[in-house]
Amino acid sequence: MNTFQDKTAVLTGAASGFGLELARLAAAQGMRLMLVDIRDEPLQAVAAELRAQGAQVATRCMDVASAAETEALADETERRFGPVHLLFNNAGVAFGGLLWEHTERDWDWVMGANLLSIAHAIRAFVPRMLAAARADAAYEAHVVNTASMAGLLVTPNLGAYTVSKHAAVAISEQLYHDLLLVTRQVHAAVLCPYFVPTGIYDSERYRPAAMQREEATTTSQQLAYAAGEKAVLGGLVPATEVAQMVLDGVREQRFWIYTHPRAMRPVRQRMESMLAATNPRDSMASRPSATAAWREALGVKL
Ligand SMILES: NC(=O)c1ccc[n+]([C@@H]2O[C@H](COP(=O)([O-])OP(=O)(O)OC[C@H]3O[C@@H](n4cnc5c(N)ncnc54)[C@H](O)[C@@H]3O)[C@@H](O)[C@H]2O)c1
Repeated sequence: MNTFQDKTAVLTGAASGFGLELARLAAAQGMRLMLVDIRDEPLQAVAAELRAQGAQVATRCMDVASAAETEALADETERRFGPVHLLFNNAGVAFGGLLWEHTERDWDWVMGANLLSIAHAIRAFVPRMLAAARADAAYEAHVVNTASMAGLLVTPNLGAYTVSKHAAVAISEQLYHDLLLVTRQVHAAVLCPYFVPTGIYDSERYRPAAMQREEATTTSQQLAYAAGEKAVLGGLVPATEVAQMVLDGVREQRFWIYTHPRAMRPVRQRMESMLAATNPRDSMASRPSATAAWREALGVKL
């Protein structure tokens, strides 16, 4: 896509982090925006900021895990703005801890927000994009899904988050191949960020009521939250740069959008280990004191 002027973008998770920064960037490029988030107050604040700069902005406060709400979103976007050119399936939540301590609700929450949201959006938007492509040879559209480096690597105590993000990578690559089979006008991409300072470490704050745990948070979950907060807030690449990487990736029609190329070394090691059929290496081997501290907190003696 060479120009974003007067094109339509649907951005989920637009009240904060990558979604917010991409909304700012896309508005500055003259895009019409449908901004989506589960939190209405910060969403309206973003919309007001961008409208004040002259952008055409609509909002929808909804849970991206809902298939029905996603279908309604696609209807409303088409009614207001016509065909969608950029769909950024980006809303997501963080949750870790030892796998056997996840409740059914934990799984539903994380897989709903991080994976099913993408599946619902593909079902609601892609057929409309294909129809727009058939009607107009000049039409072009991009679906960008936010996964994570946790979609390419496995580290201890990151539970459903890792599982959901591996699935987010897989659904994106599946979409890429399916689209390649049927069109040259609709494209897929996946964003795999490493640690970037955003609100992601604090997802628990807005977990929907129906997904709330009835059980107390476990020690492993507390460790995961503390580690996540430290790593995310210590991230050196700002969300503004990540948003620019997304637009550059779309412009250059790149499938893999990585934010920290130097963090790819463990991915290469993992791939090599898979090919050699050697057991996964201990990803915390280089940090024995962190491993010791976690084991002590968990009351484990090996
Ligand atoms: N920041 C990082 O270090 C990092 C690293 C890798 C991947 N990611 C991924 O990036 C994406 C964006 O996160 P971010 O870092 O900008 O965090 P963020 O918390 O700042 O933004 C996420 C937004 O998604 C919204 N949201 C959460 N659940 C939702 C739901 N069910 N329906 C609608 N909106 C919902 C939140 O309200 C929030 O505004 C997420 O998918 C996250 O997993 C982030």
